Amino acid sequence: MADDESHAEEGDSRSDRTVTGADAETPAAPRADGGAVDDVALDPWGSSTVADYRKLFEEFGIEEFDDVLDSVSEPHYLMRRGVIFGHRDYRPVAEAMLNDEPFAALSGFMPTGDPHIGHKLVFDELIWHQQQGGDAYGLIADLEAHSARGIQWDDIDEHAESYLLSLLALGFDPEEGELYRQSENEELRNLAFELGSKANFSEFQAIYGFDGETSISHMQSVVTQMADILYPQLEEPKPTVIPVGPDQDPHVRFARDLSTRMRFFKVTEAYASFELDDAERELVAIAYEALADGTDDAETDIRCEEAAEWLEDEAPDSTALWDTVETLKAGGKEPLRPRVRFFDRNATEDAFEALIEAIDGEKRVYEGHIDTFDLDREAAEELAREIEVDNGGYGFIAPSSIYHRFMTGLTGGKMSSSEPASHISLLDDPADGYDKVKAATTGGRETAEKQRELGGEADECPVYELYAYLLTGDDDEFAAEVYEECVNGERLCGGCKEQAAQLMEEFLEEHQEKREEAKELLDDLDIQLESSRK
Ligand code: TRP
Ligand code: SF4
Repeated sequence: MADDESHAEEGDSRSDRTVTGADAETPAAPRADGGAVDDVALDPWGSSTVADYRKLFEEFGIEEFDDVLDSVSEPHYLMRRGVIFGHRDYRPVAEAMLNDEPFAALSGFMPTGDPHIGHKLVFDELIWHQQQGGDAYGLIADLEAHSARGIQWDDIDEHAESYLLSLLALGFDPEEGELYRQSENEELRNLAFELGSKANFSEFQAIYGFDGETSISHMQSVVTQMADILYPQLEEPKPTVIPVGPDQDPHVRFARDLSTRMRFFKVTEAYASFELDDAERELVAIAYEALADGTDDAETDIRCEEAAEWLEDEAPDSTALWDTVETLKAGGKEPLRPRVRFFDRNATEDAFEALIEAIDGEKRVYEGHIDTFDLDREAAEELAREIEVDNGGYGFIAPSSIYHRFMTGLTGGKMSSSEPASHISLLDDPADGYDKVKAATTGGRETAEKQRELGGEADECPVYELYAYLLTGDDDEFAAEVYEECVNGERLCGGCKEQAAQLMEEFLEEHQEKREEAKELLDDLDIQLESSRK
């Protein structure tokens, strides 16, 4: 888990994972599942695999993408086919997209090798969000490549250019979006520094397994990534999606955390002077409602100790119950009354004063917080952000993410940069691409006869994955046809691979032509291709 330079050989983190399939498929949009391997571990610099995507939901709290699919008006084929399988908090992005409100998409690429078909997924996700009206950002994580993988600057330059060419060739609009290198972006590094003051080493240990041997630069690359993720919100807060592989989830969670820690105010709901956690608040709410029913003057009549008694007598036993009762007892005769509380977390004095001014209705001002009685929670959140932004704060909205499945290696195991036959680079000679597909492992049976009888195992087949993730493009019918014909035994692997190999060859030819055309475009952009670093 720790900073381990031996991973330098492993190539990019997005590629050297293998996936496992599980879910059901629908005829219209067959799911693209790979073959089974180890256990779940989310390590941005490791080479772990994801065996069971369902575990990511249970163990890490990643949400299923299917749950938000309906809120996306014209979902990308990677969404429709379950390649994008998970998300954190994507709803605000989907909503902004529907309502034509500002939103952003950002992802980053470590220039450790050539871009390959795994990166293409992320390129496509960025481009799609850009086409949906989002501000799109593509960044070259050169500081990370240098510090976490030990790549030299010359090599970094070469690979950086190559990533940018492929991103442009696939349709990223650099006039509308922004491309940058971490090493050349001063605003970014300033933000990283600020965020670093809200993070400490114990957290790095807990989240990333860093230890006494971890280099300081590697740690800096972490806060740099945190800054990347919040960079689209430097001008104004907006929902932002980070399309990545699930290995990046620790970064996303940490960035969400830091975005909150940077906020001027924390808004909570309370019932009295003391704080409650969510479970306790729920219990107090029940007691309050019940007692308020029996009085004309709920504002002054209900005391904490009464609520404690009520809970003791009436509430079903729960783990939070006795803590809640204790807290309420300690409140004694203090009246119980619902309120929305603003805590001063990082506010300037001016901002605190401005907030007091801006609150309508009844309010009570204390040393580090303000209680309000006529505001609902949502309005309070909105007001807090507005005051923060007006007073020089960022007002960050916690960033969202979407996660795609890792592609299975063509040779059956992981896709790994150190094993060229296992993956297809976007720079591969088209004829080599053809050959690699022809040589790929399949989900086919030992004999043609058996295959006709039992059908192929498309869900276990790296070739089928190529169709679903890339070769059939937006054409769901085509993808469904391959799937159906395979599992029905109408399709045999020889012909299936021949077709896939030809499509791959065509794709690579066309992509490489477009890369050539993109060179001019790239030259005109304000991005340093030759690093001044040594
Ligand atoms: N750590 C990412 C990787 O290993 C690269 C990266 C840097 C990134 N900054 C980012 C990804 C911001 C998403 C968003 O590939
Ligand atoms: Fe894979 Fe095609 Fe063979 Fe089915 S027919 S197992 S999809 S190669």
